[in-house]
Order: sequence, then C-alpha cells, then structure tokens
Amino acid sequence: MNEGFDTGVAHPARRYNYWLGGKDNFAADRESGDLLAKSYPAARIAARANRAFLRRAVRHVAAEAGVRQFLDIGTGLPTADNTHQVAQRVAPESRIVYVDNDPMVMAHARALLTSTPEGETTYLEEDLRNPERILESAGILDFTKPIGLILVAVLHFLPDQKQSQEIVRTLVGALPAGSHLVLSLATTDLLTPELKAAWDESLRTGRSDVHPRTREEFASFLDGLELVSPGIAPVGDWRPDPDATEHPTPVEASIFGAVARKPS
Ligand SMILES: C[S@@+](CC[C@H](N)C(=O)[O-])C[C@H]1O[C@@H](n2cnc3c(N)ncnc32)[C@H](O)[C@@H]1O
Repeated sequence: MNEGFDTGVAHPARRYNYWLGGKDNFAADRESGDLLAKSYPAARIAARANRAFLRRAVRHVAAEAGVRQFLDIGTGLPTADNTHQVAQRVAPESRIVYVDNDPMVMAHARALLTSTPEGETTYLEEDLRNPERILESAGILDFTKPIGLILVAVLHFLPDQKQSQEIVRTLVGALPAGSHLVLSLATTDLLTPELKAAWDESLRTGRSDVHPRTREEFASFLDGLELVSPGIAPVGDWRPDPDATEHPTPVEASIFGAVARKPS
C-alpha cells in the first residue's frame, strides 16, 4: 500500500478518473465504478459531461466576467484542461488555489502546479467541511478582488443538506462582490422512475456515496446570488459548445450545473 492512502478502498477522485478513462485508479475504484454504473449506466457519459461543464464555466468566468482568481474545491486528479489551464489560456496572470481531501490528489499535485510564469497555482490538502481553514490557507488569493469559487461535483459527497448550505454560505460570505460560484452536483430529478429507484437503492445499501439533490435544494445554494444565463440547467445544456461531439441528454448526465454572481 502507498503511504497516506488506502488503495483497497474506493475513492471518489480515483473512481471519477476511471470513468473519465484515466489510469490513476486501483481495482477497488474500478469495482466501485462498475457497480455504480449498474444502477446508473450513463455514469461515464455523466463524468465527461460534468468535466466539460467545468471547462465551459471556468472559461465563462475568466473570459466574460474577467475573474482572475479561482478557489477550486474538490479538484480531482489532474486530467486534461484543469482549471488553471482553462483560466490561464484566457488570462496567463490567473491565480488558482486547488483543494482536495484525497491524499492521492496531493500525490499528483505537481501536475496542477504547472502555472504560467505570470500566474500562480497552489494546492491544499483540506476538507470541504472545514471552510474556515480553507479560507485561512488560501494565501495567494486577494479577497478584495473577485474570486471564482468552484464546487463542481463535490457537494454531493456530503449527505447533510443543512451542513452543505452552511459551508457554501461561509465560503460565499468571504468573497467580494463580483465573485462567481460555479456549482454542479448530481440529481435524480432528471431520471426515469426506474433509474431513480436504482440510485436510491444503491445509496440505501451503501454501494453509492453520491447523495443527489433536488432542484430546490440546488437553488438554495445560490441564495442571494444572481444567476448567469441560462440559470440552473442539466450540465450538458449549460451553454453547450456548438462544435462538441457529445450531446448528453439530461437522463445521461443527471447533474445540475449553474454559474452565479455575487452582487454588490
Ligand atoms: C467527482 S470528483 C470532481 C473533480 C472535479 N471537480 C471535476 O468536476 O472534474 C470529486 C472530488 O471531490 C473530492 N472530495 C470529495 N469529498 C471531499 C471533501 N469533503 N473535501 C474535499 N474534497 C472532497 C474527491 O476527492 C474528488 O477529487
């Protein structure tokens, strides 16, 4: 076993890496990924659609909203188009703080620290459930200037809705006006009754650790923020790239996504 992480236990970052076609995963992650895909066969399509949403949303926040700093919590293992690469393609001076609680992401963090000379990236091993500690440690960010807070496919690992709302409130509360929240999380609202029942069953039996949220619960994370068009949408429908080769349906990518701005 590698020091710091248990390869015999499935981890969300490595399972997601498996679904995305990456190589940084172990037998336990692949088994868990295959088991979940039994109750949700579109899991791989959903993972790709979510990653594509992250890319489009960061590009929007950097290019159209002009934001130059990002706090990306629940980073995942490095893959193509990590947040700093998308943001620094728009503006090389962009600064990014990555945060994840999986030691294996830490082990691969070097690939996230390939900043442009004009910008900067740093990595924190920390848990989303400790938002104050994250804010205290995000030293390279200037909290007097707009920040893009990225919570993409991470909040659904927290089962408790109230705790999740409190965390988002703490993080958003620390950001200045003009900051943006990029949010995505799994929902069963968009599924057929059969698929929803299978998902609920996999949660009940402990096979899944992905706790879906309703549209109303998703919207509650955006209280006090201004939604960017098109508002809350299945990730595949949030400003899709006209030249994209994959067009996942809401059932295939049963994940809500939104970008919202903190007003003055
Ligand atoms: C499905 S991946 C999403 C990666 C990336 N945000 C994306 O959308 O492509 C979820 C990530 O969140 C991390 N994660 C899960 N629970 C967390 C927590 N409580 N605190 C910090 N990171 C967490 C996992 O380790 C994993 O890397």
